[in-house]
Amino acid sequence: MNLAALFPNEDYRFAMRFERGRPEDFFAPTESGPRLFAERARWLNEAPAHYVAMLPGGEPLLEETLELLRAWPATRAVASPGGASVLASLGTPESSISLETSEFPPGSLSPSEGERAGVRGRLTIPRAAEVQAGASRSPSLLGQTPLARCIELGRKLEPDFLLLKPDAAGVFRLLAGCVCFPSSWSLEEKMGLPLDEIHGVVPGLNTQLARPISGFLAKMAPGISWLRANWGLSRSAELNNHPSRKLPRLDASVRADEVWLRVEWQSLVALPGNAGVLFGIRIEVFSLAQVKQDAAAAEGLRRALQTMPGEMAAYKGIAPARDRIATFLE
Ligand code: HEM
Repeated sequence: MNLAALFPNEDYRFAMRFERGRPEDFFAPTESGPRLFAERARWLNEAPAHYVAMLPGGEPLLEETLELLRAWPATRAVASPGGASVLASLGTPESSISLETSEFPPGSLSPSEGERAGVRGRLTIPRAAEVQAGASRSPSLLGQTPLARCIELGRKLEPDFLLLKPDAAGVFRLLAGCVCFPSSWSLEEKMGLPLDEIHGVVPGLNTQLARPISGFLAKMAPGISWLRANWGLSRSAELNNHPSRKLPRLDASVRADEVWLRVEWQSLVALPGNAGVLFGIRIEVFSLAQVKQDAAAAEGLRRALQTMPGEMAAYKGIAPARDRIATFLE
């Protein structure tokens, strides 16, 4: 997907648009790896509770994700400084539910697991010792807590990731994840929530798309990376726009060189062993000058800014700045 494809030749609207790709391509290492890993380590060391979480019931999703990553040559090759495969070093605890060993057929939940998945307020917050464990270079991480394994994966994978699973009523809930580069939302507030509550702050989204989204997630064919993208504008080129950082906001005084287009390239991958979903996110940041090099993208962004409903502009944090930014794009 290129920049112009983010802004089809139409007024702003929500859309369920997906391209098909290979999951191993989305999660594969890129040349940005060293820069991304350094920054991921910084946030995971500084404030892990903001960036990583694991709820009861999330562990099988993490284990199935690790199995997939080990099965794909591109991600198996993600190597530790010692040269051994990082993902191989994560090992597979005997207690985990895997594709081959699951007691539960795809689509089912044990009753207690379903109950636990529905319980809020039982968030596992990383403790310093576990973060240290996640940072260690031990040859085998067998026996580590699920949270420590989640942190370890968060340090080694370039994309952010979220793991969801349907509860006993079939409602997708967020059970685990590591998001070092959030777009002005916080993981800790979303943990355990059903997807429509996660999306509840996006004006009009659920009315239009809650059912299509959950239907899509429930029916995703495995082995495919379902690619989509969201975009936003920021007054900062930083990858990490966590609300706690209180980064500068866009307003009517903004200069063109302070405006950044923030693209979230997203991949949805089925976890058939758990009827779950692996949701990967890569952030790419463009200056307005870069956007303007693509005339179709610049015109599409300008049109989106001018046709977006006011409440959506307010949600995206661009209400006081959007007219001004639109003129920069002319
Ligand atoms: C499958 C189809 C999906 C569609 C069409 C979709 C669509 C959207 C849209 C349009 C936004 C608003 C972004 C913006 O314009 O700035 C959004 C926000 C968001 N979505 Fe989704 N989404 C999907 C799946 C998911 C999944 C699986 C998750 C996993 C938890 C998720 C988590 C979020 C979060 C955390 C936000 C930010 C909410 C906030 O600002 O607090 N989405 N989504």
